[in-house]
Amino acid sequence: MPWYDWNESLNIGVNEMNDEHKVLIDLMNQLYNQTEKKASHEAVLKTFDDLAKYTHKHFADEEKYMESIAYPEFKTHQLIHAKLLTQLDQHLTSFRETNGTLSDEVFDFLKMWLNAHIKGIDIKYGNYSKTLKKSA
Ligand code: FEO
Repeated sequence: MPWYDWNESLNIGVNEMNDEHKVLIDLMNQLYNQTEKKASHEAVLKTFDDLAKYTHKHFADEEKYMESIAYPEFKTHQLIHAKLLTQLDQHLTSFRETNGTLSDEVFDFLKMWLNAHIKGIDIKYGNYSKTLKKSA
């Protein structure tokens, strides 16, 4: 059973962004499986690095999308992304330097991101985009 399963509560109504969220969840599941199986530090680091790179890409894509629809809360959302990236990069740097295993704290952070950010913050621009489709 995966660490985190995609489900309808994560559907923000924007297909391209849903697809990118699924890639993020896949990478997080890989990270969890590797940690459970006690994969090498090098292998886990590679996945963690892929997750960080994809997150940078996803946030940039999402910000472009929000700008394209003139989303009123764009700047606030962008600041939240910057904070999440700082936290993610700190976890990555710490893991790179310690040579240990990934802590529960890292997985708690990832789960918070999925539950609070996608369901609580991303959903807002998804709902906003729906209002534009209706009035178009
Ligand atoms: Fe899909 Fe705002 O991150």
